[in-house]
Amino acid sequence: MAVIRLHLPAAADPDSAGTGAGSPPDRSYDIICGRGILDQVGDRLTAAGVRRAVVVSDAAVAASHARRVSESLAARGIQVIPVEIPSGEASKSLSEAGRVWGILAERAVDRSTHIVAVGGGVVGDLAGFVAATFARGIPVWQVPTTLVAQVDSAIGGKTGINLPAGKNLVGAFWQPSGVFSDIDTLATLPNREYLSGLAEVVKYGMIFDPGFFAWLEAHAAELVDRSPEPLAHAVERSAALKAAVVERDEREITGARAALNYGHTFAHAFETAAGYGRLLHGEAVAIGMSCAARLAADMGRIAADIPGRQDAILTSLGLPISLAGVGPLAADELLAIMARDKKSVGGRLRFVLPSRIGAVDLVADVDEPLVRRVLAG
Ligand SMILES: NC(=O)c1ccc[n+]([C@@H]2O[C@H](COP(=O)([O-])OP(=O)(O)OC[C@H]3O[C@@H](n4cnc5c(N)ncnc54)[C@H](O)[C@@H]3O)[C@@H](O)[C@H]2O)c1
Ligand SMILES: [Zn+2]
Repeated sequence: MAVIRLHLPAAADPDSAGTGAGSPPDRSYDIICGRGILDQVGDRLTAAGVRRAVVVSDAAVAASHARRVSESLAARGIQVIPVEIPSGEASKSLSEAGRVWGILAERAVDRSTHIVAVGGGVVGDLAGFVAATFARGIPVWQVPTTLVAQVDSAIGGKTGINLPAGKNLVGAFWQPSGVFSDIDTLATLPNREYLSGLAEVVKYGMIFDPGFFAWLEAHAAELVDRSPEPLAHAVERSAALKAAVVERDEREITGARAALNYGHTFAHAFETAAGYGRLLHGEAVAIGMSCAARLAADMGRIAADIPGRQDAILTSLGLPISLAGVGPLAADELLAIMARDKKSVGGRLRFVLPSRIGAVDLVADVDEPLVRRVLAG
């Protein structure tokens, strides 16, 4: 078991920190990674003084991992209110948030009741958003059960829902009180979902940590097989790297957190153009990182062998590096989507590009013909 402490300053306004009590509480929290962690949730929440918990989960984990968490809570005398949402991105909606707010109101939930989100990024983002908004904020604990959620979405306090006009358009920064990442929960994850999460793991190596990147190269086959020890290390290291960048740039103001968007400007364009659902997010990120590395090499920003090295590890993890399996996507459409991306300014193309393995820069004003060349493959 590993405990990663994410350090954050106390909130200026004690009322906004969720406890309603006297002096502003420390918002720092622990990310606990390893095996058998689900059974420890009851002990930890008891130590935090929790007496009542709303356990939010989706259909894929309600009867398995979420039940196990509920049993751990009940064993310590914590009253459990289970709430199940439908699986899938469509649950990150205003109507689903409204339904859960309604249940909380009906059950007279107040700030002494905590939310426990058990599931992937969809459950975590929705339950986190409900926690951020109900009664002006009640505490939330994240229990991520997908690789994406364990290495990315459960850490850092971004919560939100989608609108018909776009993904994650309504949301709030609302840090969890703690994160419980049990790698045993990943055993039930469909293979495509699992491999997709490994793309974000490779991303951490590329943007922050050359040693971790080399370690991933050496352990790719074991990771594909979900071998527990290497998997635990990959989750721990990724979580620590995410936590460190959140500490430096909690609200995406200084630019440090922007490094996490490596490969994502391309990826969002691929996901949008292919139609949501054709490509899993991590698959789009793998192809996007491949494009970004080639773009950086074409611009003379990195050594010529780096794109090939990155492609090799992505391929050995069972991830795509080209759009070949998706069918042709028009370069004009992709460029138009990228120009609308939040990260571009005034329609000029901006990308997070590597300067070496383990470091990236935000590069403004990238010439369109270079991007077209990369998209052409
Ligand atoms: N808040 C953030 O910082 C952040 C970061 C990255 C992604 N996200 C969001 O996360 C979401 C994607 O997360 P995700 O990939 O976890 O998707 P997800 O929550 O939809 O989970 C993927 C699928 O796996 C199922 N599932 C979950 N755990 C399982 C398990 N242990 N065994 C079997 N099946 C399981 C789910 O029901 C779902 O069908 C997106 O909405 C994205 O916007 C948020
Ligand atoms: Zn991502």
